[in-house]
Amino acid sequence: MNDLAWDKVEKDIFANKDISLRDLFNDDPKRAGRFTMKAAGWTLDYSKNLVTPSLLKKLVSLAEDSNLKQAINDMFAGEKINKTENRAVLHTALRNLSDDPVMVDGKDVMPEVRAVLASMSEFSDNVRKGKWLGYTGKKIKYVVNIGIGGSDLGPVMAYQALLPYTKRSIKMSFVSNVDGTHMAETLRKVKADQTLFIVESKTFTTQETMTNAMTARDWLVEKLGSKDAVAKHFVAVSTNAEEVAAFGIDVKNMFGFWNWVGGRYSLPSAIGLPLMVAIGSRNFNKFLKGYHRMDKHFATAPLNRNMPVLMGLLGILYSNGYGAESYAVLPYDQYMARFAAYLQQMDMESNGKSVDKQGNRVNCTTGPIVWGEPGTNGQHAFYQLIHQGTRMIPCDFIGFCHSHNMVGDHHDKLMANFFAQTEALAFGKTSEQCRSEGVPETLVPHKTFDGNHPTNTLLADKLTPENFGALIALYEHKVFVQGVIWNIFSFDQWGVELGKVLARKVLGELTSERRTLLQHDSSTNALIAFYRDANKRD
Ligand code: F6P
Repeated sequence: MNDLAWDKVEKDIFANKDISLRDLFNDDPKRAGRFTMKAAGWTLDYSKNLVTPSLLKKLVSLAEDSNLKQAINDMFAGEKINKTENRAVLHTALRNLSDDPVMVDGKDVMPEVRAVLASMSEFSDNVRKGKWLGYTGKKIKYVVNIGIGGSDLGPVMAYQALLPYTKRSIKMSFVSNVDGTHMAETLRKVKADQTLFIVESKTFTTQETMTNAMTARDWLVEKLGSKDAVAKHFVAVSTNAEEVAAFGIDVKNMFGFWNWVGGRYSLPSAIGLPLMVAIGSRNFNKFLKGYHRMDKHFATAPLNRNMPVLMGLLGILYSNGYGAESYAVLPYDQYMARFAAYLQQMDMESNGKSVDKQGNRVNCTTGPIVWGEPGTNGQHAFYQLIHQGTRMIPCDFIGFCHSHNMVGDHHDKLMANFFAQTEALAFGKTSEQCRSEGVPETLVPHKTFDGNHPTNTLLADKLTPENFGALIALYEHKVFVQGVIWNIFSFDQWGVELGKVLARKVLGELTSERRTLLQHDSSTNALIAFYRDANKRD
């Protein structure tokens, strides 16, 4: 991180260490308006943050001094900013709905992007209209997506979020875990002759996905009695045509993408195929339009009026200035139940780094821990700690003015809680207030709320495909901003490799016919021996 610019931020924090949201609001009756902005269908109220106009200016200077503007331009221009993998980072091209070309290695990638989208549309229309027939001539009623990480979390999260737009007669399932239970329980719910498996893997070598895909293939062949059935019941989404063919899927039933799409950023690529089958190509295009609107905002708005930039800077303020270890994402919408899980990969796999771009130890803490649950469930679980615990946990509250299910007064109650929580977190309840309410003196400390807990409020009209696409892009760019300021590479994930390599070795040791000489530490050796004994292996 840029020391000089950060010093100025830190000095400001120190000079205002008694900063109080109550005072900030009392001193400036127009604060809410001043600290609210709109972009791509979303309103962000960031007034309930521990910031003054002067601190914000210093944070924006930090972004400027970190060459953020140049970094944004480089990403959109297809520069190879993923240096450790020598790749461009162009998920923005996947939803580029303008006529502008996007160049990678001197070639415009947009014709290929559009061609894949067209073949996805054709395919999903065929499945939805019952034109894609299984091996025995039956229409598809069940779709099972097989993938993991970015090839699962995005599709399953977005499918759940956009459930009101889905064709309900097609039953979707998502299998990711290599735990056989996941596949076994899914196969119990589907009929082979009406099931389509979409195998999604950027590399097509991921252990979990390939194991699940092989189990599904064996099951299908056994149920339908012929290997020829595979062609009618399996399609693939991958960058690796060779492996797809080796698995036995006809490459004409493969939807491609490119190495400049990171796994956790791949939802708007062909990885979104199960979503497109569920919501249809028109809604999928609206979803892309939302992404594109936020992309345009991010690429063109000045840094001090740029939603992803402001959210990124506020996150840095709390991580690096206040030592906050995590932030909570709290969508007040049941359809967004998996949103926090999706953001965990996006944020933690991107910015969970401790070495800077020059290969040195970073001079600051980096990616935060992301977690959350939909409101109001969290209020009856972990909000106690946010309100009265000893840790600072900044929160993003995400809500909608209209529900898809206007059942009685549910939505008004949901949103009353939504607004009440950010108010309670910001302003708390003083001991004087408690006393004036007649709270006995012994209980006053327990019933006092310090307040001053920072929150962002993100509000949109309704959870539509377009608004949802824009929201995902907002978080993608927020993560990017933070990576730039921390001076780390956000688009590689070397940290997942070691465990994968060791697991391959251990698998051999667990399953070999005869015991091999174990050369791990004494704990791992003993655990492997224990497992072999339990399974009566020699
Ligand atoms: O967990 C590591 C990872 O490489 C993720 O980045 C990726 O999304 C996931 O595995 C799945 O990879 P693939 O799509 O190649 O199967």
